[in-house]
Amino acid sequence: MFSERFSTLPPYAFPRLRALLDGHVPGGEVVNMSIGEPQHPFPPFVTEIVARESAGFGRYPPNDGTPELRAAYADWLARRFGVRADPETQVMPLNGTREGLFDAALALVPETKAGRRAAVLIPNPFYQVYLAAALGAGAEPVLVPATRETGHLPDIASLPAETLDRAAAAYLCSPANPQGAVAGRDDWRALLALAERHDFRILSDECYSEIYRDAPPPGGLEMAAEMGVDPERVVAFHSLSKRSNLPGLRSGMLAGGPRAVARMKQLRAYGGAPLPLPLQRAAEAVWADETHVEENRARYRAKYAVADEILGDIPGYESPAAGFFLWLPVEDGEAAAVKLWREAGLRVLPGAYLARDTGAGNPGAGFIRVAMVAPEDDLRRGLKSLRRVLWT
Ligand SMILES: Cc1ncc(COP(=O)(O)O)c(C=O)c1O
Repeated sequence: MFSERFSTLPPYAFPRLRALLDGHVPGGEVVNMSIGEPQHPFPPFVTEIVARESAGFGRYPPNDGTPELRAAYADWLARRFGVRADPETQVMPLNGTREGLFDAALALVPETKAGRRAAVLIPNPFYQVYLAAALGAGAEPVLVPATRETGHLPDIASLPAETLDRAAAAYLCSPANPQGAVAGRDDWRALLALAERHDFRILSDECYSEIYRDAPPPGGLEMAAEMGVDPERVVAFHSLSKRSNLPGLRSGMLAGGPRAVARMKQLRAYGGAPLPLPLQRAAEAVWADETHVEENRARYRAKYAVADEILGDIPGYESPAAGFFLWLPVEDGEAAAVKLWREAGLRVLPGAYLARDTGAGNPGAGFIRVAMVAPEDDLRRGLKSLRRVLWT
């Protein structure tokens, strides 16, 4: 006997990629550009702190984070976004944002809204956790196209009023994975006004917020404060995975209104995995340091420049505003991924694996996602073979 709740989910993107490619022999030295796993160095003080604090592995860690860690979150939110968040009631640690994004639907989305099944709005393409989360909560996932025509952001205002009235939450990913689009201040103003009018909460996945090219992307809580909107409207998710190259630390956090945070704390107290104490101590120092973040950003800036130099003139190329992915238009993403693997040993992800067909075709089908995480030499080699295989 199994739950049917998740039966509409296909296998996750990476098993699908293995099934697609692993029967073929790679046509060159392998360069993996499929997974968004940061490879720049993380700050060396992390190792020192974990070693120094290792006695903490002998204790159960506090679920809600040490006071020092929560203060570090609040300080960072104030420095980066000018947002004042109460460290007692408005921030909490997460074992990476993925679990927080999942739990948020369970903790915050009601069974019904306005007497009908609640809806959860999800951009399409999207980070796959949002869909599993909506299904887990028993809500109806409503996929909103985020295509070139909509500036790669979901045009939530185009939904019928009936759907918006049923919406309990909208996931927004800015900077967006996979497209690298950033919701600007006007986008945020329009979205918050819509959320106020139709009474839904914005689950704002900001885990790429520190990897940007020119201007720092605005955050949801920042924009809510600027507009005088109740912070309960937004839950913002942040992570050390991309900001600080620490995906293995499993250290994220969320910030929002006290009522939403209390619900999340309660759910995590029952079912969540708290962050081990030595890792909380390390995270505290990482949030307090911006030098390594600036260095990291400079490395990605150099990578955007390499991508522009090698691919800038291919048809439909869009240089990302932020994040570390290229979202490249091709005829057929799966066919392109197989060709790149067979002819160059290059591993990229077909865009269709990050999107769903809702009847009007899969909006990711004509794309591949290329992660610019490899060291610059490998990146250069990889992008050159990509160009050679697909565009010469
Ligand atoms: C858009 C997006 N959100 C959230 C995450 C989860 O990151 P983490 O759980 O490492 O904080 C990822 C990781 O790839 C991501 O791409």
